[in-house]
Amino acid sequence: TSALALGAATLAPAAHAKKAKKFVEGTFPEGFIWGAATAAYQVEGAWNEDGKGESIWDRFTLVPGKILNGDTGRVACDSYHKYLEDVALLKAMNLKSYRFSTAWTRIQPDGTGPANQKGLDYYSRLTDALLEAGIRPLPTLYHWDLPQELEDRGGWPVRDTAQRFADYADIMARALGDRIENWSLFNESKAFTQIGYWQGAWAPGRKDPLAFFKATHTVNLAHGMGFKAMKAVNPKLKIGSVFDVSPQIASTESEADKAAAVFMDKLSNLWFVQSVLTGAYPEGVLPADRQNELLGFLPSDDKLMQADLDFIGINYYSRTRVWDAQKPSGVPGLLLPDTEWAFGDHEKTDFGWDIYPQGFYDILKRMQAVTGSRPIEITENGAAYNVGPDATGAIHDPKRIAYYKGHLDALSRAIHDGVPVRGYHAWSLMDNFEWAAGYSQRFGLTYVDFANDQKRTIKDSGKWYAQVAKANRTI
Ligand code: NOJ
Repeated sequence: TSALALGAATLAPAAHAKKAKKFVEGTFPEGFIWGAATAAYQVEGAWNEDGKGESIWDRFTLVPGKILNGDTGRVACDSYHKYLEDVALLKAMNLKSYRFSTAWTRIQPDGTGPANQKGLDYYSRLTDALLEAGIRPLPTLYHWDLPQELEDRGGWPVRDTAQRFADYADIMARALGDRIENWSLFNESKAFTQIGYWQGAWAPGRKDPLAFFKATHTVNLAHGMGFKAMKAVNPKLKIGSVFDVSPQIASTESEADKAAAVFMDKLSNLWFVQSVLTGAYPEGVLPADRQNELLGFLPSDDKLMQADLDFIGINYYSRTRVWDAQKPSGVPGLLLPDTEWAFGDHEKTDFGWDIYPQGFYDILKRMQAVTGSRPIEITENGAAYNVGPDATGAIHDPKRIAYYKGHLDALSRAIHDGVPVRGYHAWSLMDNFEWAAGYSQRFGLTYVDFANDQKRTIKDSGKWYAQVAKANRTI
């Protein structure tokens, strides 16, 4: 028997190799969706046109010292007027999906009440132009621009904001659900709650850890309630959400650092996506006996926040290093590790972020353990390099091409190894307003001349990406 078994084992790989094609790194499954992403406040401008209300970013950008160089999104890329140019860029790059966001304050200027028709009309025009160009619209309902009026009533830490969001989601499903099938509810729940309510560096600029935890619960509730509201309008709509995740890497092999990394994985990777999918928070973050009180978690909130999302959006940029610190947090019973977003002498982008493609593979594998067989879309990935036009007007950005190639190769391996990723969106279609960094960090495949009528010029990286999308493989 042992000889037979050995024979079979030696024969099997050869027979198998004839049938299965050898995996080639950088190749993608047939029908893979290539796209690019932007967000309303970062590109639209037209901050007060056609009845648009004030958002927390309209307000926050006017606070002296908050945004580099005092930049604001009042004009940004002027996409509100130039959206047809944006659609033409997508087309020129052979892209089949456009991830944009809808500004809540265009639809409900103060966050409640009936829809502002002119706001809806803008997204309706954009949708029609995309469909006509053969491009799938993939809107995100909330990319951080809360109506200021709702912040004045307490913002995300206040439970009522979840119901306000569900009403807005209902309006959008009714208005555009006939033409848009795939929707994302939120963009990066972790980033905007943490930096906006705990660290204070983004709108609304609050520095309150207790408010942060309450905000996370309202946002998770808003997922469940928004999901149900949209499905009630049309059960055929595919509703997902976008999560910012990063591998949490222990800085040493010590038990304490390893435990700190596990803790951070719960707080920053699982706190949002796993809680929404299961209706329960990961254990071991907040003290069990205080958790409900700290979150404002009421009986049956598990059912309210649970949503069986149809797809999972993943934004990946870099890794995080974690080490044990036992730092008091301002939340009773919660001690925190230290974390670092860019570390060591690893190569960095112009924004100072580590270039770490292996982390893309690792976090996709990690997320699959939580999200199971649900389809994943990469909703953002990209790098800031701040090169401008040369004497001929061309923009040579070879480092961005290298970043994309490294990450797409890692992604192709993850897909080959079974992670169900069906699409990829580069961040970003064009240079835009990079939050607290203003216009200083350029993530675009397209150069935008902010001093010259927002003129758009496709960079070398955009031309390269166009070839990748066409060939369905990195080149
Ligand atoms: C994540 C955010 O969703 C997007 O708004 C931002 O511009 C990029 N990352 C780059 O920082």
